[in-house]
Amino acid sequence: MVAVPIPDMPSAETVARIRAVLLDWYAVQARTLVWRTPPGVERRPDPYRVWLSEVMLQQTTTPHATPYFLAFTTRWPTVNDLAAAQDGDVMAAWAGLGYYARARNLLTCARAVASDHGGVFPDTEAALLNLPGVGAYTAAAVAAIAFGRPANVVDGNVERVMARLFAVETPLPAARPRLKALAARFVIGDQSGAEHADWPQALMDLGATVCRPKSPLCDSCPVAFGCAALATGEPGRYPLKVKKAERPHRYGIAWVLRDGQGGVALMRRPDKGLLGGMLGLPTSDWGDNPDTTPPVPADWREAGAVEHVFTHFSLTLAVHVAAGEGDFVWTAEAEALAGLPTVFRKALDRGLAG
Ligand code: ADE
Repeated sequence: MVAVPIPDMPSAETVARIRAVLLDWYAVQARTLVWRTPPGVERRPDPYRVWLSEVMLQQTTTPHATPYFLAFTTRWPTVNDLAAAQDGDVMAAWAGLGYYARARNLLTCARAVASDHGGVFPDTEAALLNLPGVGAYTAAAVAAIAFGRPANVVDGNVERVMARLFAVETPLPAARPRLKALAARFVIGDQSGAEHADWPQALMDLGATVCRPKSPLCDSCPVAFGCAALATGEPGRYPLKVKKAERPHRYGIAWVLRDGQGGVALMRRPDKGLLGGMLGLPTSDWGDNPDTTPPVPADWREAGAVEHVFTHFSLTLAVHVAAGEGDFVWTAEAEALAGLPTVFRKALDRGLAG
């Protein structure tokens, strides 16, 4: 039978060739990652570990995620262990990974797997998608990597590889559906479980190590032969992006209140909102003109300022320090430095130094 070409889509031959070459490359070049089974291995990794790693990797790089992954899996080796953990312990262990709503979703999902699925992750993309806090990316990644199912796993790496292979001229985010459709062409149903698991990881490793966002290493690219972006002479121009509006800048004050015995005053933040449910330093509101009233009267002095960039705004926090007392969550300074979200850790560091 002669395959009918789909308009505006690569041919089945092109797809099969790129896929085969990239899988061969991955068989040799796969990164060694603590949650990963090596290429070509039919035995699948523990779905709990795959799920946990994918949630962590949605917001950070593999080197940054690795110690967190090891700490989580040492302390909570199974999804049932994580489900039974105290919220505050999980939030503290997540500190430094950012985007704390994810840590809450993580717990909600672990508890749903423990209580509704007997501690066993469902093994299809559709059933995974029904778990609370599991989105399209995570469901596809767990279905492919942990269960060897054909699934279209599309993250920023995969979007970039597709945009370059096919020199997609539509800028992001409008290009997203097309990039997803292009990636779907490479998901071929009748292959082994190991291949279904290896394929998205091969694409992601290529995106992370060769087809990098800036200065792609096209000389080392196994699929350079099929890359339309390289043929234009400007592969780094892809994916095109609509210019983002500039991040607004906000100002605030962080209050470092010390008890003189190695303790510092912290407060639990409201559940809803930025850094929800996390412990933090007492602060003013964050805006153009923050309220300068301290949380308790004391002999406050300025100790400099720290900068932090959140997803939707950047922040300058002036740090004020005093000795005093009051109704706070008093915490050993060393413990606070180790467990606070990064913005507060920076401010506390500044306060203790100054
Ligand atoms: N980035 C996110 N998930 C990944 C994975 N499973 N392999 C390689 N890079 C990734």
